[in-house]
Amino acid sequence: MFFASDNTSGVAPQVMAALTRANAGYAKSYGADALMTRVRARIRDLFQAPEAEVHLVATGTAANALALALVTPPWAAVFAHEAAHINTDECGAPEFYTAGAKIVGIPGADGKLTPQGLGTALERIGEAGVHGVQRGCLSLTNVTEAGTVYTPAEIAALTALAKARGLPCHLDGARFANALVATGASPAEMTWKAGIDVLSFGGTKNGCMGVEAVVLFDPAKAWEFELRRKRAGHLFSKHRFLSAQFDAYLEGDLWLTLAAQANAMGQSLVQGLARVPGASLRHPAPANMLFPWLAPGTNARAAARGAVYYAMEDQGREYARFVASWSTTQEDVDQLIAALIP
Ligand SMILES: Cc1ncc(COP(=O)(O)O)c(C=O)c1O
Repeated sequence: MFFASDNTSGVAPQVMAALTRANAGYAKSYGADALMTRVRARIRDLFQAPEAEVHLVATGTAANALALALVTPPWAAVFAHEAAHINTDECGAPEFYTAGAKIVGIPGADGKLTPQGLGTALERIGEAGVHGVQRGCLSLTNVTEAGTVYTPAEIAALTALAKARGLPCHLDGARFANALVATGASPAEMTWKAGIDVLSFGGTKNGCMGVEAVVLFDPAKAWEFELRRKRAGHLFSKHRFLSAQFDAYLEGDLWLTLAAQANAMGQSLVQGLARVPGASLRHPAPANMLFPWLAPGTNARAAARGAVYYAMEDQGREYARFVASWSTTQEDVDQLIAALIP
């Protein structure tokens, strides 16, 4: 009953097998390996973006922080939801790598920015002349930190506001595959066709060991990204092991198959909650992450029965965060639901 995060799960067997295969013999280092050539080609193909540049790093924090640094001057604002991972869970890495850009956290129901909320922030920030930060970029997250999803149309409405101010747009896709499965959108529809310029394309949470791809739809700054990655200490010398993971992840649509399982188990949990007295969803939960309100005492009872997840409270009311992963089974879900029922 491990529902604390999708990164409590292991590595998909296909990815592990690819790592073992990659271990044979020798390969060029620092990203010059043949597998990286294939990963780049696969991503260009998948996104219908023949010009896109692709760089691999080992953590989502590195992907986000380096991507944001590429598109944001030190004296500028990164507009994001107030609950965005970049704002709450990266220990200031975006601020550090941008050399001081300010993250402007914007409220919005269910973890999502609205055009009104973003519009207000875009009007308010950047008007103080030399005394205030300038407008820098927009950063969205899909699946959001509240477990909800943006459709491509919703993303396009937000990026249009940013673009009207000349701002580049970043998407934190730590759970990009889950967002695609939940919406039925294609990779291109969810990104460059909706105004996204740079994507953090997650692998780790969805069955890789530790790899995320930074996809630059405009390759103009690709060399600068390479320099930033190296300078930040995020260029792996035995890079083939990052490439091997992403290559296996994309082979035969494994990444979508894994996300489909995670989302199916997320939806099975949503259905199971109907049998838990006093449970109701705090936010819509179309993917693999859900936040149900729970009756008093439920979290303690489930913990005593061995369920592992984030138990939380809001104004004295209990709730939980459950995340299903590629390796979650129906049996795991049934056990968790049983542990929640008095
Ligand atoms: C929305 C989001 N972005 C990025 C990350 C990546 O973080 P990490 O640096 O732990 O790989 C996470 C992980 O929890 C996340 O939930």
